[in-house]
Amino acid sequence: AGSGKFFVGGNWKCNGTKDSIMKLVSDLNSAKLETDVDVVVAPPFVYLDKVKASLTDRIEVSAQNSWIGKGGAFTGEISVEQLKDIGCKWVILGHSERRHIIGEDDQFIGKKAAYALNEGLGVIACIGELLEEREAGKTFDVCFQQLKAFSDVVPSWENIVIAYEPVWAIGTGKVATPQQAQEVHVAVRDWLKKNVSEEVASKTRIIYGGSVNGSNCAELAKKEDIDGFLVGGASLKGPEFATIVNSVT
Ligand code: G3P
Repeated sequence: AGSGKFFVGGNWKCNGTKDSIMKLVSDLNSAKLETDVDVVVAPPFVYLDKVKASLTDRIEVSAQNSWIGKGGAFTGEISVEQLKDIGCKWVILGHSERRHIIGEDDQFIGKKAAYALNEGLGVIACIGELLEEREAGKTFDVCFQQLKAFSDVVPSWENIVIAYEPVWAIGTGKVATPQQAQEVHVAVRDWLKKNVSEEVASKTRIIYGGSVNGSNCAELAKKEDIDGFLVGGASLKGPEFATIVNSVT
């Protein structure tokens, strides 16, 4: 870990029931969490308000998506204003599942990011390459292109956390090695230095996601440019998520 405060997000994705979610909330409320870490969880929309109201103030909530503009006649969408209304502080955008399963492109993701940031929401901006892109030696090209799509439209980098999530590591149990993650994180920081500013490069937190768990987090957290994690599967277990939060070095 290096820049800024360690940041650990739990992306619950499309998982849980009323019962399992409230059990998770109660486990999180009773967990002992290091104080010097930003902790954020992203429940499915239907539970977001309840989770926000039931969690201690120690833990913030994030949405897993948001609409590109003001609310209105957009069936099935959730607006940034509605998220702010329930006290939600963050939104995850550009997640690989939305890019590759739902088909969101850089431009659409960029619009959402710009709108959310302009309205004062923090954005967890996800980037990452597919296995075939890595094997073709295109990891940096893909990540830089996705970064540029954010960079071209965002009003400022102050409220952005970058999540590097190699797609081949998501939900596969195949975590990137600390070296593989560090290599991309440092390249991302370098890209920010060259294309945005030294200040943004040094201040922006770059977190890693993809099969992070209670056993592999400590080694990853030691790397200089890994400033936290975005956790999927392991964030559904309170005690294990707490271990990951507490892996801050
Ligand atoms: O956003 C977090 C995520 O995509 C990683 O998922 O299950 O591999 O930890 P998982």
